[in-house]
Amino acid sequence: MNSKPAYRWSSPELPASALYFSPSLGRLWKKVHLACSPFLRRPSVRRLYQKPAPQLLKLLRDPYCLIALGCADGTKEAFLLKKLSKPAYLLAADTNLSLARRAALRLPALKKAARRIDLTTHLPSPIFHLPKPRLFTLFGVLPNLDPLPLLRRIAHRMSHADLLLFSANLAPGRSGFAGARKVLPQYDNPPTRRWLGTAIQAYRPKLPKGRLHFGVHPDPRQKSLARIEARWITPMQNLIVFSSRRPTTAQVETWIQSARLRSLSRFLDPRGEEGVWLVRPAAT
Ligand SMILES: C[S@@+](CC[C@H](N)C(=O)[O-])C[C@H]1O[C@@H](n2cnc3c(N)ncnc32)[C@H](O)[C@@H]1O
Repeated sequence: MNSKPAYRWSSPELPASALYFSPSLGRLWKKVHLACSPFLRRPSVRRLYQKPAPQLLKLLRDPYCLIALGCADGTKEAFLLKKLSKPAYLLAADTNLSLARRAALRLPALKKAARRIDLTTHLPSPIFHLPKPRLFTLFGVLPNLDPLPLLRRIAHRMSHADLLLFSANLAPGRSGFAGARKVLPQYDNPPTRRWLGTAIQAYRPKLPKGRLHFGVHPDPRQKSLARIEARWITPMQNLIVFSSRRPTTAQVETWIQSARLRSLSRFLDPRGEEGVWLVRPAAT
C-alpha cells in the first residue's frame, strides 16, 4: 500500500512573492502595514528614514536616479525624498506591479517608470543601464528574502558612484533569538492572520486544511540567525508561509562585508528593533 501524502510541496516554504503578488494581497498587506508598522506608529523609527539625507545630499551628485527596490507604494521613499533633491529618474520596482505603479505616481521625479521584478533572481539589466549615480533603496525587503545573496546581487551590479540605502528589522539586545521572541507579538495579530490566510487560500496547488502558528526558528541557511515564522500546520506537513529575519547589528554588518560593500553610516532606533544602513561598493 502506497502511503505517500496526497499533497507534496516542492519546497516546505512559500516564496515571499506569494504573499504580495496580486492587487488584493497587496491591499491586505497594506492594512497590516497601517495597523502594525513601527514606521507609522513610532516617530523614532520614522526618523531613521530621513537621517541619511544630509550625507546623501553631499554624496549624490545631481542629476541622480532613484531605484526603489521592493518599494510597495513608496511610503518610506516619499518620506526620504522630502529631504532630498528630486531625482532625474525614478524606477519603482516590486513583485506587485499595482503597488509599484502607486509608488511611481506618488514619488517626485522628472521621469518615472514602474516595473514588476523578482528580487530572488538576476536583477533585470535595464536597471543597471540607468545613468549614474544611482541611489538604490531596499526598505523592508531583507527580512523576507535570503539577505546575503540579495545584497550580493545588488552589490555586483553597482558602480562606485552608486549608493544603497537599506533597512533591516533587528532582534533587540545581543541574543538574536531572545530579541526575536520579544517582538513576536507584533506578528501574531488579526490583520496579519487575514493577509496570510488569504495567501494560503490563493496558493496552488491547494493547501490542505490547517492552522497558523507563529514562532521563532533558526534560519535554514544561517543557523545563528533568528527568523520569525508563521507555519501552516496540517496533519501531513508543516509549511512555512511567512518569515521575517531578525538579525543582530553584528550579523547585518557581516553581510555587508561578505557582499563586498562598505558601510558609510548606520542609524538605529532607540529600542534596537530597526536599523538603516547607507553603503557603497567596497573599493577593489
Ligand atoms: C514588507 S514589504 C516592504 C514594503 C516597503 N518597502 C516598506 O518598507 O514599507 C516587502 C515588499 O517586498 C516585495 N517583494 C517581496 N518579494 C519580492 C520579490 N521576490 N521580488 C520583488 N519584490 C518582492 C513585496 O511586494 C513588498 O512590497
